[in-house]
Amino acid sequence: MHPIQDTTTRPADDEALFESIAAALESQGYVILPAALPPALAASLLDCLAILEQDQFHTAGVGRGRDQVHNQFVRRNSIHWIEEDDIGSGPWLAWTTRLRLYLNRRLFLGLFSFESHLSLYQVGDFYRKHVDAFKGDSNRILSLVVYLNKGWEPDQGGELVIYDPQTQAELVKVIPGFGTLVLFLSEEFPHEVLPTQRDRHAVAGWFRLNTSINDAIDPPR
Ligand code: OGA
Ligand code: MN
Repeated sequence: MHPIQDTTTRPADDEALFESIAAALESQGYVILPAALPPALAASLLDCLAILEQDQFHTAGVGRGRDQVHNQFVRRNSIHWIEEDDIGSGPWLAWTTRLRLYLNRRLFLGLFSFESHLSLYQVGDFYRKHVDAFKGDSNRILSLVVYLNKGWEPDQGGELVIYDPQTQAELVKVIPGFGTLVLFLSEEFPHEVLPTQRDRHAVAGWFRLNTSINDAIDPPR
C-alpha cells in the first residue's frame, strides 16, 4: 500500500515563502504578503467556504466559554471553526502544520498547536481595535489571517489596520484581497477591521503554546 499523498501543495514550494515570513517576524514582528497564499491552497479554502451555508456561521462572541458575550459594539461577524473533517480543510491544515514546524526550527517558538476559523463580515460588520492575546494570560503566540475576496476595490472598506505597539500609530492598512497573508505576534500588535461595504471572507488562525497541566490536554479553544 502507498501512503496517501497530499499533492495540492508541494512541501518544496513552501521554503521561500516560509523563510520570508520567518525573516520578517524576526525583524519586525509582523508581515503582510499580498497574493502569497499558494493557489491550490486558496482553491481548497474556497471549497471549504462554498459548502458552508451562511446559517452554519455562528455569530462570533468576544472571549470564550462563560465569558463569551455578543458585544455588537466590539465585534460583528460570523465564524466557523475549521475542523479536520471539513471538506477542503486538509491542505490548509497540512500547510499550517508545515509552517508551524518551520517557524519552530527557525525561530525556536515552540508552537504546539493551531486553531483557525473562517469568518464572514457582512455589510456594516467590523471588529474594533483589539489584541488577540493578553500578556501572560493566553497561549496564543502568533496570529495568521488570509483573505479570500476576489476583486476587492479600494472603496469597499473592510481593511485590517495594524497599530504600532508603542506609539499606537497606524502601521499598515491591509486591503483584504484574495490570497493576501498577514502574520503578527498576537500579544504585541493591536489591530482592527474597518466596517466593510461588501461580504468579506477571511480565515483567521492562531499558533499556540501547549499549556496542558497534569496530563489534562489543553483544549485548543
Ligand atoms: C480576528 C481578527 C482580522 C481580519 O479574527 O481576531 O483580527 O482581518 N481578524 O479578519
Ligand atoms: Mn484579531
